[in-house]
Amino acid sequence: MDGHVFIFDTTLRDGEQVPGCQLNTVEKIQVAKALEQLGVDVIEAGFPISSPGDFNSVVEISKAVTWPVICALSRAVEKDIDMAAEALVHAKRKRIHTGIGTSDEHIRYKFNSNREEILERAVRAVKYAKKYVEDVEFYAEDAGRTDNEYLARVVEAVIKAGATVVNIPDTTGYCLPEEYGAKIRYLVEHVDGIDKAVISTHCHNDLGMATANTMAGLLNGARQCEVTVNGIGERAGNTALEEIVMILKAHKGISLETNINTKRIYPASRMVSSLMNMPVQPNKAIVGKNAFAHSSGIHQDGVLKNAGTYEIIDPNDVGIDTNSIVLTARSGRAALKYRLEVNGVHLDDPKLDEVYKAFLKLADSKKEIHDDDILMLAGADRAHGRRIKVDWLQATSGIGMKPVASIGLDIAGEKFEAAATGNGPVDASINALRQIVHRPMTINEFTIQGITKGSDDSCKVHMQVESEGKVYYGFGASTDIVSASVEAYVDCINKI
Ligand code: KIV
Ligand code: ZN
Repeated sequence: MDGHVFIFDTTLRDGEQVPGCQLNTVEKIQVAKALEQLGVDVIEAGFPISSPGDFNSVVEISKAVTWPVICALSRAVEKDIDMAAEALVHAKRKRIHTGIGTSDEHIRYKFNSNREEILERAVRAVKYAKKYVEDVEFYAEDAGRTDNEYLARVVEAVIKAGATVVNIPDTTGYCLPEEYGAKIRYLVEHVDGIDKAVISTHCHNDLGMATANTMAGLLNGARQCEVTVNGIGERAGNTALEEIVMILKAHKGISLETNINTKRIYPASRMVSSLMNMPVQPNKAIVGKNAFAHSSGIHQDGVLKNAGTYEIIDPNDVGIDTNSIVLTARSGRAALKYRLEVNGVHLDDPKLDEVYKAFLKLADSKKEIHDDDILMLAGADRAHGRRIKVDWLQATSGIGMKPVASIGLDIAGEKFEAAATGNGPVDASINALRQIVHRPMTINEFTIQGITKGSDDSCKVHMQVESEGKVYYGFGASTDIVSASVEAYVDCINKI
C-alpha cells in the first residue's frame, strides 16, 4: 500500500456547525493560518449560501491563506454554486464541493424524488460548478447507507461530468469499518474512470467508528480523508485529523504519508479548543491531557526504563512541549508572545498589548500562568463591543448564612444596580441580574471547569440557555467562579 493521502480539513465547516462553537471571521482566519502551518492540503472554509458571515469568512480566508486549496460547500443547486464561486474569487487554489443525498432515505424523504432524477441533478450540479472552477468535488450524502450499485452509477456519472474528487460520506456514522472499506473497494473495482478522480472519506462518529472507518477507506483505495481538529463536528463529531495522521505515522508498514507537520498538531488542537470554547476530553487520543500520562506504577516504571515500553508515539512528535515554561508576573511581553506562538496564536502588537495587560492582572492573583490560561486570555476579547457589561459584582456566601449578591451593569452606557439572595452565590448573582434584565431565560446546561490546577486556578464556564424557544451558548472565564458564571450568563444575554 503506497501513496499520498490528502488531508481535507473541515474544522471550519462541519466542525463549526457544532452549536456554541461558532467563530467570527478573525478567529476563522487564525484557525485557517494554523491549518496552513499544520500542512493540510485542503481547507473547507464554509458554506457561503448559508449566511453572509459564512460567505465573508470564505472570502477572507481565501485572501489570508496561500498554499492549501480553499474549498466552499454548496448543495446541488445553481444559486448555491454561484455563491460558492463568488466567495472563492480571491483563492489562489480553489475547489467547489457540491453534492446531494443518494441513499433511499434521502431520495424519498428529503427530496421526494427517485434515483434517476437525483443522478441527473448530481451531474447537472457538477457540470455547472465546472463552469467556474476546474477542481470540483462531489459528495454523495449518506453514501454510507446508499446501495453500492447505485452509488457506483452516480460516482461514474459525476466523474464523467468532470468531478476531480468523489466524496463518500458516512453521514450518519452508521457503517462498520469492514462495510465502509468494502464500499470504497467496490467503487475502485466497478466505476469506469475511477482513476480520473480521488476518492475521499468523510466519516461521522455517531457509533465511535469514524477513525476506524476512515482507515478502512484509506486501506481500500481512498486517497483523501475529511477530518477536523479534535474530531469536532455535528453530533458525535467527525474523524479526528490527529488520529489519522498519527496512525499513518506510527504504522510504517502502511506506507501512506501525509503533508502534515505533526509537531503543529498539539498547538492547533489547543487553539481550536480555546477559540471554540470546546474542551478536549482528557482521555482523547493524541491530544487529550492524559494521552501521555502514565499513572500506574508498572507503566511508570516501564516508561522510565524505556519510553517504548508503553509509548507508541513520542509526545514531542505531536508538539507537546515537555519543557513548557510557566509564566509569572515577572514575565515580559516577549515571553508571552513566544508562548502564544508555540500554541499557534499570532497576535498583532495592539492585541498583544491588550492580552499582556490581562495577563498581568491574572498573574497578580495566580502565581503560575500556564498555556491554557494565556489561550483563554487570547480568546477573551469576544466580550468587546457587547451591549451589556458587568461593571462590578459582589457575592457573599458561607456556612450558616444566606447567600446574597449585588451587581452593577452597564447597558449601552446606562448604569443599573440590583441585589438579591439565592441558594448559593451564583444563584444570588444571577437573580440580581434578572432583576435588571427581565428576559425569560432557562439555564439548560451549566459546566464549570478548572483550567490547570490549584485553588488559585482560573476556571471556564460554559452555559446553554433557552429563551423563547431558541438556544444560546455563553462562555466566561475568571479566577472567580461566580464572576465566570455571571460572565457566561451575560454572554448569552448579549447573544439574544
Ligand atoms: O456528512 C456529510 O454528509 C457532509 C456533506 C455535506 C459532505 O458533511
Ligand atoms: Zn459531515
